[in-house]
Amino acid sequence: MAAISRRTMLGQTVSVAAAAMATNLPLAAWAKRRDPKPWVPLGKLAAARGIDFGMAVNPHRLADTPSYGELLARECTIVTPENAMKWEALHPARDRYDFQQADAIVDFAAKHNIKVHGHTFVWHRALPPWVAREATDKASAETILREHITAVMQHFKGRVLSWDVVNEAIQPKDGLPGNMRNSFWYEKLGPEYMDIAFDAAHKADPKAVLSYNDYGLEYANRVDTAKRQTVLTMLRELKKRGVPITALGMQSHLRATGEKFGPDLADFIHEVHSMGLECWVTELDVDDSRVIAADDHSRDMQVADVYKQYLDLVLGTGCVNTVVTWGVWDQVRAVGAEAGVATNIGKSQRPLLFDSNGQPKQAAWDAAESFREAPRCKR
Ligand code: XIL
Repeated sequence: MAAISRRTMLGQTVSVAAAAMATNLPLAAWAKRRDPKPWVPLGKLAAARGIDFGMAVNPHRLADTPSYGELLARECTIVTPENAMKWEALHPARDRYDFQQADAIVDFAAKHNIKVHGHTFVWHRALPPWVAREATDKASAETILREHITAVMQHFKGRVLSWDVVNEAIQPKDGLPGNMRNSFWYEKLGPEYMDIAFDAAHKADPKAVLSYNDYGLEYANRVDTAKRQTVLTMLRELKKRGVPITALGMQSHLRATGEKFGPDLADFIHEVHSMGLECWVTELDVDDSRVIAADDHSRDMQVADVYKQYLDLVLGTGCVNTVVTWGVWDQVRAVGAEAGVATNIGKSQRPLLFDSNGQPKQAAWDAAESFREAPRCKR
């Protein structure tokens, strides 16, 4: 790991300590950042606790930027395509599948002995127009959904070991029973679209880990607390009906706003785990668009604090077996779930663990600490 030097970090810490004193910030928290350690890849630290660590991947960067692949190969034990396995990418017409970009990711992963997580089958977004044109009634909608899941899973069988089968099915504002989202699939098939999707996925690859994936489960606020309740109820009902779901994905699109995570989140994770489900963090990033500081260094410190607090809490349960960040490194143009949202000072966001030169940011050093301090994961 000679390429990565801690020198910059040490240089920065001096000014951070001074800033901490000037603003009465707790020094202990800053002081921790002086501790010089050689960089150890996150995937390696996570693996020592029985946890997979990975990132969402863009196949175009993999093709045009060698250092992107080098970073992935070094840091990750799992990857997921950010967009390349979405319906519109894989299945642009009923009789045409395009596996090229997704295959490039899967081939890369195989070469480097990295697992692949598939994302995603049922989603209210990324559906090409032909689906609505051809799924005119309940029967045709079910056929199209089953065909898609079966064909894709058969193509990747043995190479993609887990799938987000249903993504973001909840939207309380839509006013439907069970707080279900009024999506295309709900309109065509009713709430049993979930049963159909998991059934098709299980039949296509009985060994695959099959997950429900959603956002807005993380914070201690009223909205997230209510959503955790809704998800628990939904998961219990799915299990009661014998639906072959085996994991919950918590997207974890966080924000540097000072909002708190609470013990309810740990209770939630324990509860999901006690239902026999794996608990994954699937799309971790920290939106810094509302951070007021203008200099990158203070912004990065605030983002790092959010990563640390969140990872300490969720890894502390011993029930989270996978952590995936939603992207590889910060880009000049904004990336992540809030792509396109500029910061309040007109800069692009810095939501990830590595900077645009592929160097670990403070958030990465802090994530490393979280993995080092985590209890061994109860798989
Ligand atoms: C986002 C991608 O990051 C963007 O590049 C794309 O334009 C839209 O989708 N929840 C999900 C992800 O499950 O698939 C989304 O990814 C972010 C929110």
